Parts: sequence; structure tokens; C-alpha cells
Amino acid sequence: MTTVALLGTGIMGAGMARNLLRAGLGLRVWNRTREKAEPLAAQGAVVADGPAEAVAGADVVLTMLTDGEAVAQAMAAAVPGLRAGQVWAQMSTVGVAALEELAGFAREHGLVFVDAPVQGTRGPAEAGTLVVLASGPADPRLDPVFAAVGGKTLRAGEEAGAATRLKLATVGYAITLTAAVGEALALAEGLGVDPELFAQAVTGGPMDNPYLQAKMKAVLERDFAPSFTVHGAEKDTGLIAEAADRAGVAVDLARATHARLHRAASLGHGAEDMAAAYFAGFADAGQDLPIRR
Ligand SMILES: NC(=O)c1ccc[n+]([C@@H]2O[C@H](COP(=O)([O-])OP(=O)(O)OC[C@H]3O[C@@H](n4cnc5c(N)ncnc54)[C@H](OP(=O)(O)O)[C@@H]3O)[C@@H](O)[C@H]2O)c1
Repeated sequence: MTTVALLGTGIMGAGMARNLLRAGLGLRVWNRTREKAEPLAAQGAVVADGPAEAVAGADVVLTMLTDGEAVAQAMAAAVPGLRAGQVWAQMSTVGVAALEELAGFAREHGLVFVDAPVQGTRGPAEAGTLVVLASGPADPRLDPVFAAVGGKTLRAGEEAGAATRLKLATVGYAITLTAAVGEALALAEGLGVDPELFAQAVTGGPMDNPYLQAKMKAVLERDFAPSFTVHGAEKDTGLIAEAADRAGVAVDLARATHARLHRAASLGHGAEDMAAAYFAGFADAGQDLPIRR
């Protein structure tokens, strides 16, 4: 039986953990805030006190943490439990620069490094229908793992980094779309238009799509329970700007969205769903903010 160590049981990691357990895989979990990992024990997971204890003896290590820094810290703490030859699928969204550093850490410790960010949010993580974007070695030890957490694995290339680049393009689309929905609704309200009328005008027509419906519902019902937080989306638009700068691509929408997300976070909406970018429409409108690094 494949034994998996999962570092990070936040919104995404918790759903993924339950699907790994449902698939019958041995699972050892660690989360910085232990209480978030503890409910998984009832379903058969071993809750470890630290990253080293979690990874010791595991065939596969998965990281699903906020950003590159969190992953680097957790993996540094895991060193006493790591052994050469273990496969490490890095599934968090960390961006191109951090990905290179993490790949270097893997080389240093003899780990088989797979760049494997995911597309899909809380619902697909809970349903086991994420799209795993994978690049690096196609290690068979990951087959049952990706099958458990995902509905599909898309090979993005042979070299680690290719999947992260693809992830930045897909998440940029999702985040800017969400910001566009929020901006349109704020504009409607600001112009004295009933937002329900906006909803009626776009629903069922060529501008309609499931993302519009989900994020519009969040705004209209003022239900910002997070699938992906404003803080997370702010982080990702920063990573997109970083990658675009390296590549010489102008990402005006990602930059403007980053500014709106930053403004929403500074108004106290950082831990809410990224649909709360809507609130940026009502404070310091028009003021652009620099990309935070
Ligand atoms: N939510 C989505 O829709 C979605 C979709 C695709 C990809 N992603 C990516 O998946 C990753 C996780 O996202 P999420 O939505 O699950 O976020 P989340 O619920 O905020 O979980 C973040 C996790 O990272 C941990 N963490 C943060 N800083 C840490 C540090 N310095 N050291 C150790 N652990 C640390 C948190 O621990 P605590 O519990 O102690 O805070 C928690 O386990 C991110 O890279 C995100 O961009 C998210």
C-alpha cells in the first residue's frame, strides 16, 4: 500500500486528505495548526506532530501550503524524516521563482520532484475532481495519489516548472474573471442599477458561465465563505506579475486585479472568498496600488 505524507490540511489539503483515505491509501498528515488536521484521524489518518514525523517512511510526500515560503519552511523541518528516493509532489501554487528553489532543495536531498499544482477549488478538492497539472518525472507511485484527488491529470511537460507556468495562466483567468464579476456588480450598484437586473440580463446568454454564477451568487447573497481567499488570490496575481516580468508579458488585468484584491484585504476581507474583491469597488476607487512582493 502506498503511504502518503500530506503537509497542509487547509481548505484544499483537507478535502484532498479525505479522498486519499477513501481511496484506501495510508495517510500521515501534518498541519501547523494541529486542530485543523485532527478530524482526519477519525477517518484513518495518522496526525503527526511535525513535518519530519509525517514524512518518515512515506513513499510519497505532498505539500499543499500557502506559498513557496511556507513549503520551504515545512520541507526544511521535514529533513530528519526524508530519505533519498522519496517522491515529492509539490501541489501548492508557488510561482516560478520559488519552484526553482524547491526543485533545488529536492535535488540536494535526492527526492524525485514533481511539480503538480491543481486546478479547481474547495468543491472539486472535496469531490476528488481536481485537475492535476503535472510536470517532471511521471513516477508511478503518484498514479493512485493523483487518481484519488483528481478527476484528470494533465501532463504539462517533462521539466518541473512547466506545470507551474500553466497553473499561473489558468488561475489568472479564474481570478480576473472573479474580479470582473465583482466590478460589474459594484458598478451596477453605484449607478443605481438593481444588481438582480444585471443577473437577469447576463444569465442564460453568451456571457453566462458557471464561474459568473458562483461568484455573482456570493456577492448577491453576501456569502463569502472561502473557496479561495482574497489573500490567496492576491498572492497568485503577484506571482503572475513576477512570472510575466521575467517573460516580458504585459499582464494589465492581473495587476489591476492584484490592486483590487489588496484593497479588499485592507478593508478586512482578506480571509473571505476572492468574490469579496467586489468590495474594492467602494473604496479609493481608481487608486492603483503597486504589486506587493
Ligand atoms: N483554495 C483554492 O481554490 C485553491 C485552488 C488551487 C490551488 N490552491 C493553492 O493551494 C494552496 C493551499 O491553499 P488553500 O486554499 O488550501 O489555503 P489555506 O486554507 O489557507 O491553507 C493554507 C495552509 O498552509 C499552511 N501554512 C501557511 N503558512 C505556513 C507556514 N509558514 N508554515 C507552515 N504551514 C503554513 C496553513 O496552516 P495553518 O492551518 O496553520 O494556517 C494551511 O495548512 C495554495 O498554494 C493555493 O494557492 C488553492
